[in-house]
Amino acid sequence: MISNFLSDKKQLFDRWAPSYDLLFPSVFYQAIHKRLLSKVDLPVQPNVLDLGCGTGRLLQRLANQFPDLRGTGLDFSAQMLRVARQRNCHHPRLIYVEGRAESLPFTDGQFDAVFNTISFLHYLEPQQVLCEVARVLVPGGRFYLVDYTTSKTASELIAASPARIRFYNRESREILGSAAGLLCLGHYYLLGPVLLTIFAKPSM
Ligand SMILES: C[S@@+](CC[C@H](N)C(=O)[O-])C[C@H]1O[C@@H](n2cnc3c(N)ncnc32)[C@H](O)[C@@H]1O
Repeated sequence: MISNFLSDKKQLFDRWAPSYDLLFPSVFYQAIHKRLLSKVDLPVQPNVLDLGCGTGRLLQRLANQFPDLRGTGLDFSAQMLRVARQRNCHHPRLIYVEGRAESLPFTDGQFDAVFNTISFLHYLEPQQVLCEVARVLVPGGRFYLVDYTTSKTASELIAASPARIRFYNRESREILGSAAGLLCLGHYYLLGPVLLTIFAKPSM
């Protein structure tokens, strides 16, 4: 059941990939990326992960703004990654890897920051994803979670959503983060109902 659901979603994003950057949602997402960058705080020579990277637009923007940044984009859609690799003008500083957010193919403490824009709503196992994010972050590393938020409860939304997308309000984000050992540093509206939540992995 879960594997059917995941493969259906993968197919949906595979089909969307060739036109993704030409359609309105991507223009909207790029405006969000721009605003996100004003809140980003990175160490020197940062190594970052973009989870659910799609066509790689956010990583390209980060690589332009931080010339010493190295980045990895992960996505489960082979076609999204194909577009991201074709447009990658920062190789080998930026690389793209196929994988699932629920089971990251990276070692512990590998990244200074993890980004996740408009992808968390699709996850069937959000707690598992946050535990994976906490695992791959260095102590003191940051997680930038950007997604639509809502005043409704998660269960009201699941009931109303045939695609089983889920939106999380501030409190539910904080609860999920805390269960994964991440401290919430703050919430910021970026554009309309799109909320950035910044988490930190405690330093040892
Ligand atoms: C709406 S797109 C957003 C892409 C990009 N982050 C942006 O801001 O434009 C959502 C992305 O999440 C990816 N995705 C959804 N569920 C995933 C999962 N469980 N593991 C990895 N990628 C996933 C999709 O393939 C898609 O590329």
